[in-house]
Amino acid sequence: MARHLITSAIPYINGIKHLGNLVGSQLPADLYARYNRARGHEVLFLCATDEHGTPAELAAAKAGKPVAEYCAEMHAIQSELAKGFRLSFDHFGRSSSPQNHALTQHFAGKLAEAGLIREVSEKQVYSNADGRFLPDRYIEGTCPNCGYDKARGDQCENCTIQLEPTDLIDPRSAISGSTDLEVRETKHLYLRQSALKDDLDAWIDSKTDWPVLTTSIAKKWLHDGDGLKDRGITRDLDWGIPVKRGDDDWPGMEEKVFYVWFDAPIEYIACASEWAEATGGDWERWWRTDKGADDVRYTQFMGKDNVPFHTLSFPATILGSGEPWKMVDHLKSFNYLNYDGGQFSTSQGRGIFMDQALEILPADYWRWWLLSHAPENSDSEFTWENFQVSVNKDLADVLGNFVSRITKFCRSKFSEAVPEDGTYGPDEAALIDALTTRIRAYEAHMDAMEIRKSATELRAIWVAGNEYLQNTAPWTTYKSYPAKAAAQVRLGLNLIRLYAVLSAPFIPDASARMLTAMNASDATWPDDVPAALSALPGGHGFAVPDVLFAKITDEAQEDWQARFSGIRG
Ligand code: 2FM
Ligand code: ZN
Repeated sequence: MARHLITSAIPYINGIKHLGNLVGSQLPADLYARYNRARGHEVLFLCATDEHGTPAELAAAKAGKPVAEYCAEMHAIQSELAKGFRLSFDHFGRSSSPQNHALTQHFAGKLAEAGLIREVSEKQVYSNADGRFLPDRYIEGTCPNCGYDKARGDQCENCTIQLEPTDLIDPRSAISGSTDLEVRETKHLYLRQSALKDDLDAWIDSKTDWPVLTTSIAKKWLHDGDGLKDRGITRDLDWGIPVKRGDDDWPGMEEKVFYVWFDAPIEYIACASEWAEATGGDWERWWRTDKGADDVRYTQFMGKDNVPFHTLSFPATILGSGEPWKMVDHLKSFNYLNYDGGQFSTSQGRGIFMDQALEILPADYWRWWLLSHAPENSDSEFTWENFQVSVNKDLADVLGNFVSRITKFCRSKFSEAVPEDGTYGPDEAALIDALTTRIRAYEAHMDAMEIRKSATELRAIWVAGNEYLQNTAPWTTYKSYPAKAAAQVRLGLNLIRLYAVLSAPFIPDASARMLTAMNASDATWPDDVPAALSALPGGHGFAVPDVLFAKITDEAQEDWQARFSGIRG
């Protein structure tokens, strides 16, 4: 038994996430967590909301709520939606937790002790009308690169270029719209990432099994231009983690908080401590290599835009602390999912959001489509036509139809119990052989987090059952050789249980319904496929389940396409 620590990038608190966000981290992380639990491994699967920074403050202001209240409400909403999508977090924490405050201040203290933090006096935009500095998204203006007139102080959403607030043309306050701005001197803390460049470089070089998408992004930041730059880790904001060195005040930093990207990844650790407090678990066993975490395999899931922070900034924080924290072993990153000819966009309300998705269809439909089309090697695109075809073919025609056909046939010709007569013959042996090969391939893809390949293999496993039924045709066999038909049906019913076990990481609800219908209490992984296909003995009672997956009609597809074509209000 291995021990898997799995984290998903923590979603910003500033609103309900869209399906592109979901497939870029939380959902594939859940797939991997469920799979590893099913294989009998010990898993700690963590996620949280990312509650600091300008996105949180601005969203709260827009909602007309104090930011703490807004974050608490939005955390509860995101948590409910995660449950709706069956995301099986062991803990869904909050980066604003007391644990994260303490740990972030602790890391800052250790980094300062190690001489890895320097104070920098720099120029920041100050709004006289608002009486405050305007970091990051608090300032808007025209992009110097593409001319887009709603570029933000940290990035232009139109051309994606990274910006400093002082780069914007015709800048204005995002709070009041005021253009009465001036540049003032203010003091900030910088993490001396450049001093850790060689350590980071060596660490990245040791990750020979990482995808090129991941290592090339890290290498680019390490070597392009002047090499790895030091990073500002403080901001002039009210909401956030106050700047301290451990428990001690930091002179000159009284009015400042840590930058959201400094404290967010530390929440991966703090979240384990929140989990421990809630459950009585031992979080250090997962995170401290001096306390048992050296045999943990740690995997992170995230969108490609998060890769630099996870390959450089967060490792710099951990390495620089000089303490024995667990470092990531594997980092699985994703490209983007597009929506019907354009991009999903939270700020523009474009696409399908998690709450809307669950209003129209149960989680399994979305989980299957999103995972089987995960943007792994390139961007992928959601279209309603493709969604309809996939659901109708894979889930309704292949899997659903198999379950319905064999259970109904058994009920009509035998009874609602597994038939006892006959023995498995050459056809059954051939199927068992073919399935064994496919199941081992499925495991290899799942172990490697090759999500699309896993989905393709799982579908092929479902197809093999259909083809077996088609070829052996128990409805015909039954007329002349009822005992042979009985054995065929027995195998078919056992396949339903096997499919439930194998499919659970992708479609947990349908899988649970299949197990309930088969009255099966044993959901252990089929290490031994022949044994797994005899698990339900003759005489074992079952029930014909209701339709597992309803087909999406053309009318529904067109209706949804029209309904979700605009901008969410
Ligand atoms: O891109 C995002 O949605 C960020 N909130 C991810 C943070 S991941 C981590 F560092 F915690
Ligand atoms: Zn631009």
